[in-house]
Amino acid sequence: MSRSSRLSGFYRLGIAERRARLNHAGSFAAIDPGGLPLEAADGMIENVIGTYALPFAVAVNFVVDGAEVLVPMAIEEPSVVAASSNAARMARPAGFSTTCTAPVMIGQIQVTQIRDVDAAAAALREATPELLAAARALVPRLAERGGGPVGFEPRILARSGVDGGVVVAHLHVDCRDAMGANLVNTLCEALADRVAAIAKGEPGLRILSNLTDGRLVTVRCFASDANLAPNDGVDVDGVEVRKAIAQASRFAELDPYRACTHNKGIMNGLDAVLLATGQDWRAVEAGAHAFAARSGTYKPLAVWHEADGGLAGELTMPLAVGTVGGALHVHPGARLALALAGAGTADKLAAVAAAAGLATNFAALRALATEGIQRGHMALHARSLARAAGATGDLVDRVAAALAAGGDVKAERAREVLAQLAKELP
Ligand code: MEV
Repeated sequence: MSRSSRLSGFYRLGIAERRARLNHAGSFAAIDPGGLPLEAADGMIENVIGTYALPFAVAVNFVVDGAEVLVPMAIEEPSVVAASSNAARMARPAGFSTTCTAPVMIGQIQVTQIRDVDAAAAALREATPELLAAARALVPRLAERGGGPVGFEPRILARSGVDGGVVVAHLHVDCRDAMGANLVNTLCEALADRVAAIAKGEPGLRILSNLTDGRLVTVRCFASDANLAPNDGVDVDGVEVRKAIAQASRFAELDPYRACTHNKGIMNGLDAVLLATGQDWRAVEAGAHAFAARSGTYKPLAVWHEADGGLAGELTMPLAVGTVGGALHVHPGARLALALAGAGTADKLAAVAAAAGLATNFAALRALATEGIQRGHMALHARSLARAAGATGDLVDRVAAALAAGGDVKAERAREVLAQLAKELP
């Protein structure tokens, strides 16, 4: 996308004006009511009785790997879109920079009732070329695109017990732009009998692992002290904000109770992008938390530290996403989201989603470390109460401002203020 993602005042516009401002070449029908036709929904899952809508928004101000990016988000929680846009503005001068490993997924083939697990593991290791060749022969088109099975590794899980000796063979598959679940499962099922025969045991489960630690994304950002200082009249120095955020990050490193909430703040932005773009966000969630606990203690996925003249943040996590296959064939809204984000490849999508995750984490820590989270939440809540009371146009901001100023952010008060303001209108 060549246009800027710095759409200042975007939130003040009406929906039609926002759409016009995005300058998107295609139509927005895919995210209008009925955008997902009932017949399409009926073909996606079982027992369909309707479709379920969520707000679809774009977070603005993002620069990811030097490119201006509009970040599509589908989410019910207020303030995630605003907070990530605000964080992206603070990080905008340097932007978010990302690196991805090759998109290698892991398939597991379990073998039980093995008498000699050491001999089984050795035999499987020796048979690696044969097994990889057999797996590659099953996916020639993926191999032509530079992907396909790239590794095979037996792991001894138990020497004896109810299941006898247990070995699991990991098949590593470079899935290119697919998330790869179907692909990996198919390969595991195809290889399982041969693997069990070589290990002299019984074939067990054959399924991918969602702990995709061979498919990692890292995203970094930097915000200067000047950009960290609140711009809403709260008198806090940027250096103090920097120190407070670094301290909040250390808290998460020390305590799994805090690390869990810290990571939830990452998933706020990340899941919103995954949902908008039709990804299996449950798979990413499962992988993220398993990865966070890989040392034996649950840790923060992103950390923040003081750097020269500002604050630096870094997030590393497994992120199995795809821009082909899955729901994308049938979900027009997901395809629109990918187009808006300019995410034509899985790497690009992972970069955008991870940047959104780091941004929401950043925004949450900054709010917590300065004014507390409730003030921002209350301001947004006041706007939604104003709308619910019937305010439109400028009146939304005026009613919300009156509610926030009075500290009485309630539906009834919103109706009273609106009635009062309506009387004053010429
Ligand atoms: C709320 O959805 C997310 C936060 O709790 C994250 C955090 O505490 O870092 C604000």
